[in-house]
Order: sequence, then structure tokens, then C-alpha cells
Amino acid sequence: MRVDLTGQVVFLTGAAGGIGSATARRLAACGARVVAADINLAGADQVAVGLPDAMSVALDVRSSEQARRAVDAVLERYGRIDVLINNAGVNTFKDRVDIDAFPEAEWDRVVGIDLDGLFVVSRAVVPAMVARGSGRVVNIASVVGVTAMRLQSAFVAAKAGVIHLTRSMALELGPKGILVNALAPGSVLTEGTKALFYGDDGTFRAQMAGFMEHVPLGRPGHVEEIAEAILFLCAPQNSYMSGHLMMVDGGWTAGFML
Ligand SMILES: NC(=O)c1ccc[n+]([C@@H]2O[C@H](COP(=O)([O-])OP(=O)(O)OC[C@H]3O[C@@H](n4cnc5c(N)ncnc54)[C@H](O)[C@@H]3O)[C@@H](O)[C@H]2O)c1
Repeated sequence: MRVDLTGQVVFLTGAAGGIGSATARRLAACGARVVAADINLAGADQVAVGLPDAMSVALDVRSSEQARRAVDAVLERYGRIDVLINNAGVNTFKDRVDIDAFPEAEWDRVVGIDLDGLFVVSRAVVPAMVARGSGRVVNIASVVGVTAMRLQSAFVAAKAGVIHLTRSMALELGPKGILVNALAPGSVLTEGTKALFYGDDGTFRAQMAGFMEHVPLGRPGHVEEIAEAILFLCAPQNSYMSGHLMMVDGGWTAGFML
């Protein structure tokens, strides 16, 4: 798809990560000026330095004070924000335990970043869009927000919250010219998930191979495939879709592969 985002300013959280950095590159290639926001400033710097007219900001999405400062810095430099991509997120990799033993601190960490953080950043960024009467918000959810998985209750609950919050935002912001959508990635290869998927010999772990049999396309997604879908949701070509949940999951949630 050929998309022209020339001059548009994109505020992207979690920009240092796998999906974030791929999205930054894809949108910048379409002319966007990318604000790479991440708690990992060195990583955000690395992403921004390779892109034309981009900037990086240190941002812990849980902090409304940091979010406000970041927005101020962006408006001072560019004078506008056209697109917000709420992509920062964490999951429970080590503490996969039953609900009755799920550590409270891990619950707070995951929900605090994945759901509360999305609210905090949206609240800080959206007024700049309302002021201009236009904008796009893309909230990165997960397939597990639709079809739950075991042993990661905080992530499942947070991502379900993201999906419904997206609908609520779409209702409120549509009349103000802002389109709000969510995107649910399936299993996507990033540095983090690679450590889970692969054994030392580079092949799928046995458990993962079994899991992939439930995905019609039979493989994990690539970050570029997620970035492409995010691009569509930001693009001027998407002018009438709001409050939608786009599944980019290789068919995972279409049904059972029996
Ligand atoms: N990779 C997958 O399989 C997958 C599947 C479903 C959903 N997702 C979602 O996609 C999004 C991106 O995930 P990814 O796979 O690229 O992960 P990633 O770990 O590669 O990137 C996540 C980024 O978020 C940043 N981050 C973490 N806590 C933060 C905070 N408090 N404030 C600001 N930034 C913070 C990290 O520094 C990192 O750069 C997440 O919301 C994730 O839940 C990913």
C-alpha cells in the first residue's frame, strides 16, 4: 500500500521494541516524523537516529508527569501530533502461574503498563488532536484480549481492557474528528518471544511447535507484518473505520484447527 504521511507527527510508545521499531521505520518511510517514546531511552535514541526528522523521548507510560513533559517537548518541536500509537507493553514470561498464586506485584506491573499506561498517555496526547479536530489513535492489544490463555491473567485482563477502552475512546473522540482502533497481534517474533520459541539448536521448542498447529498459517508473525497493519490504521486511506479491533494473528482466533 502506498501511503503518504508527509509532515504528520506520530507519537509512538514502546518504540525501542520489536513491533515499535519496525513501525517507526515503516511510518517514517511514508514521510512521518516519528516521536520514539520509550522507558528505554537509549533504545529509543537508536531508533530515532536512523530516521529523518525524528526525535526520541524518555517515557514511562505509567507517569502522567513524564507524559505531559513529552507532549510539551513534541509540541515545541513540531507544533502538532497527528497519530498516537499506544504500543508499549509487557507480559508475564517468568511468572506464569495460576490465578490463585499470581503475584500481586506482577499483576500491578502488567496492568499498570499495558492498561493504565495506555490511558495515561492517551489523556496527555489526545488534547493536541482535539485542538486540530483530527487524529488517529492505534491501541496495540493482543489475541489474548479476545481468546484468553492460561497462566497470564494480568496480561489477558489488561489487553481485554485495551480493546473495550478503544471502543469507548472511539465513541468519545469520533465527533472530534479522531479515529480510534485497536490491533491484536497474534504470536510475533521479537527478541523477547524468540527466547521462548526457539531451542538452543534454533528449532521451535516442542511445546511451541504444538501451539503453532493451532495457527492456520502455521508460523509466528513478523514485526513488519504488524507494522503494515498499523500503517493502514494510521493512513488517510482509512477514513471510515473507528472502534474496530483488527486481528493480525495468522488466523489464530478464527476458530479451532481440529
Ligand atoms: N510480540 C508478540 O508476540 C505480541 C503479541 C501480542 C501483543 N503484543 C503487544 O505488542 C506491543 C509491542 O510488543 P513487542 O513484542 O514489540 O515487545 P518488546 O518487548 O519488543 O517492546 C516493548 C517496548 O515497550 C517498552 N516499555 C516497557 N515498559 C514500558 C513503560 N513502562 N513505559 C514505556 N515503554 C515501556 C520496552 O522498553 C520495549 O521497548 C505490546 O503492547 C505487546 O503486548 C506483542
